Order: sequence, then C-alpha cells, then structure tokens
Amino acid sequence: MQSNQIAREMQRTYDQYFLSSGYSRRYPRPNAATLDYLLANGAREAGRILDFGCGNGRYSLALLAHSEANLIAYDISASSLIEFEGNLMNTPYRERVTFVYDDLSGLSHARPYDLILMLFGVLSHLGDRTTRIATLSRLRALVREDGRVILSVPSILRRRPRELFKCALARRLGRAQPPLNERGNICFTRQVDGHQLTFFYHLYALKDLRDELAAAGFAIRHCEAESVLPEWWVTQSRILGRVDRWLAAWIAPVLGYGIRVLAVPI
Ligand SMILES: C[S@@+](CC[C@H](N)C(=O)[O-])C[C@H]1O[C@@H](n2cnc3c(N)ncnc32)[C@H](O)[C@@H]1O
Repeated sequence: MQSNQIAREMQRTYDQYFLSSGYSRRYPRPNAATLDYLLANGAREAGRILDFGCGNGRYSLALLAHSEANLIAYDISASSLIEFEGNLMNTPYRERVTFVYDDLSGLSHARPYDLILMLFGVLSHLGDRTTRIATLSRLRALVREDGRVILSVPSILRRRPRELFKCALARRLGRAQPPLNERGNICFTRQVDGHQLTFFYHLYALKDLRDELAAAGFAIRHCEAESVLPEWWVTQSRILGRVDRWLAAWIAPVLGYGIRVLAVPI
C-alpha cells in the first residue's frame, strides 16, 4: 500500500468513526493529564496553535477555553471537522478557529505557529517512515524558531502485540508488502457500530521517535508516559484518570500506553 492509499483508507475509517459518534463515545473528553501538559508547555500563552489531526477538537476546544490563541484545525476527515464545528456552535470561540481540510498547502497562510500539536497517534497514521519524516519536515517549516511541537504516539511495548507478531513473522518470511515491511508498522481491522474499520499504525520505540524527529529538524526536550491505562478508560472515568496520572508519573515513557513528547526546532 502506498502512503497516499493509506491516507485515503484512514480518511474512510475516521469519516465513519466520527459519523457514527463512535469516537466521541469512546473518548468523550481530553486526557486531563495531556491537557495540563499542553497548558504548562506553551498552549496558555500561544498566539497561534496548529492542531494537526485535530479530530472532533476534544483538545482544541479545551485550549480555546484556556487561552486567547487563534487555532488552525487540520484533518483529512471531513466528518471530524463537521463534528468539531458543531461543538463550537455553543461557544464564543468560533471566530478564533480556521478549519483546513485535507490540504497541507492550506497551513502556510497562518504560519509561523507558536505551537503545533499531533495528539493521540496522528503521526502513527501517516504512513511509512519516509512519509512521516516528510510531514514532520513540513511542520518544521511552519513552526517558529522558538516554537514547540507536542505529540503523543502509541508505544511499541504496549500496543497490539498480536499484529506486531504477525507482521514480524511476515517480514521474516519475506512476505511483508510495503509499508508493513518496516518494523513497527501494523494494519488491523476493528468492528465499530457494524462497520469494519481498517487502521494503519506505526508503533513507536523512543529511539525511532527521536530519530524521525531529528531527521525532520526537531530535538526531544522532554518525554513521559501519556497514560498507563488505555486512553478510553482514562477519558471515560475521571477517577481512573486521576489514578492513572499518579501511576504514569512513576514509569518509563516507553512503558506508557502512549508516549508524550515535547520537541523543539534545532
Ligand atoms: C486517533 S485520532 C486523534 C484525534 C485528536 N488528535 C484527538 O486526540 O482526539 C487520529 C486523527 O488523525 C487524523 N489523521 C489520520 N491520518 C491523517 C493525515 N494523513 N493527516 C492528517 N490527519 C490525519 C484522523 O482523521 C483522526 O482525526
């Protein structure tokens, strides 16, 4: 599968996921620890934020409430942006949001950004390593020299061991087709509201993430576990969210369900 085919498949998947409200049911609010991390690391003071792969705006909406920032909301899923715009209707923030749908060149008008977000696995969905680095490099050209990128990615030690094993075996047998011939790349199908949805992911080791960011001109300034428990537990239950925040502070970043990273231009 080529990277543009992956993007079209992910578009189909997320359009259906948001259209069925499956996403907002599964992740009804931001992870409170990640939201606090954003606010403590520049989002509160930022004048211009790009939420790349914003989905239905679960983070963007909270950031608009806690800042004066203008926010550019980018996604390849039209139904995610429609849901986001619907959520904005009952707020005073609509004028501070610009939507950009599936067109990277549309992000240049508002540059440079003080802060760029790629939260909860967006980077993992983009395709093979070359494509991920190419996208990060485009973002590098959009961020201020003293700006920041905050992203979170799924950890290779915690996610989808069965698919990882199947892909590793296919690689060993010489049967893995691109992009599954790269370590950490997986593809799987999940049933959501009666629909078979296909997801492509790159699962990250910290070294891969550091190398990809460096190849695009970023250095990791700080990283930590995003959560110990699965994101949907943490965002559906405030109590579990509080317990999880305490637990996550004690473990190595790569043992988290996701890895949360603050990166800066070099
Ligand atoms: C797991 S969701 C995360 C959404 C949001 N950041 C959040 O934390 O709720 C992944 C998002 O990435 C978007 N996405 C997938 N591939 C993309 C691509 N090539 N470019 C931009 N966004 C993409 C999806 O449409 C989806 O909204």
